[in-house]
Amino acid sequence: MGCNVEKIREDFPILKRKIQGKPLIYFDNTATSQKPKQVIEAINNFYREKNANIHRGVHLLSQEASELYEEAHIKVAKFIKADKWREIIFVRNTTEAINLVAYSLGLWKLKEGDEIITTVMEHHSNIVPWYLISKIRKLKVKVVGVTSEGKLKKDELEQKINNRTRIVAVTHVSNFLGTINDVKEICEIAHEHGALALIDAAQSVPHMEINVKDMNCDFLVFSGHKMLGPTGIGVLYGRRDVLDEMNPFLGGGDMISSVHYEKEEFKINWNELPWKFEAGTPNIAGGVGLSAAIDYLEKIGMDNVRKHEKELTSYALERMEEELEKTVIYGPRNVEERGGIISFNIEGLSPHETALLLDEQGIAVRSGFHCAQPLHELKEVKAVSGSTRASFYLYNTKDEIDKFIEVLKQIEKLT
Ligand code: ALA
Repeated sequence: MGCNVEKIREDFPILKRKIQGKPLIYFDNTATSQKPKQVIEAINNFYREKNANIHRGVHLLSQEASELYEEAHIKVAKFIKADKWREIIFVRNTTEAINLVAYSLGLWKLKEGDEIITTVMEHHSNIVPWYLISKIRKLKVKVVGVTSEGKLKKDELEQKINNRTRIVAVTHVSNFLGTINDVKEICEIAHEHGALALIDAAQSVPHMEINVKDMNCDFLVFSGHKMLGPTGIGVLYGRRDVLDEMNPFLGGGDMISSVHYEKEEFKINWNELPWKFEAGTPNIAGGVGLSAAIDYLEKIGMDNVRKHEKELTSYALERMEEELEKTVIYGPRNVEERGGIISFNIEGLSPHETALLLDEQGIAVRSGFHCAQPLHELKEVKAVSGSTRASFYLYNTKDEIDKFIEVLKQIEKLT
């Protein structure tokens, strides 16, 4: 089908909205994406026609809901080219997926003195869980830096990794700089030292073809709401043999196959994967919505999504660099090495002031630290007060970028 943007835009009701009397230009896709009517209708239809709890009833509705929810796991597995659908665990979001791994491995498998490597490029959700578990379990967290071109210091990873390293947790695409990391190589380095590799793919799975087998990661985590799906549903992919060895993170219904009370003790057997890690009634409608989102993206083709975003990013970067005089842009310049994310600052204005001035013209961007404060504060980056961030998706157009640049030029005149 390709990216027929005008046709795609027809599917997104919100894009018809006016903001401050102006047509909405939605450039906050890194925070969350908009939803096509196919996703909205799938959720609506689930609640109208299919709603029941899963795995808890012999009645037809419960069986239908269970099937839909399992099908959603199968669809995700195919989408990221996982071997088995049981390797797909549904959680609330990327953050919960990382916490699941941190607590399950940290509490049960890691020992005092074990090491975890992360990077200064991470979103807070790939920093804070490791910090917390390291304090509880007396682990050491080592951090890999970033060059002034906005790339990970690979040599520093090679220096810091050793035979005490248990986990290497790295983002695929930076949500601030847009940098695309060579995660295949990072997984290889981790494995050479016997460590597990966790890849935060929140900003990559929605925007490019992903193949977990080729990447050879042990865990891959992402959120449904950034890829046209609803909020409250996210994914932890884990290699089967690794997940089999792990204990659950949350306990409750559905994650057990049996609970007995014998000789004044509980005897509990875990359920099979993926349910072992999905305690309690899950977000069933969220799974259905994510499934519809994947159908939508697959119809367009992830290569087409990536191609479209590359074109937009390269066009925007070129024009911003040539035509803006007081604007600093962060991250690598080569669009082969960055996603559709452009963070910047206008001299004399705070990121929030810039974002508010853009909002007056109907343009939605994010401002602040984007949950990546250490990266902003790095001497190689120097964005200590935060940044303004424009981020693109399959429904954005060059006309919108033209308008954006025109408004930025007007804003520059104010300073
Ligand atoms: N992680 C999201 C962002 O970068 C919320 O905006």
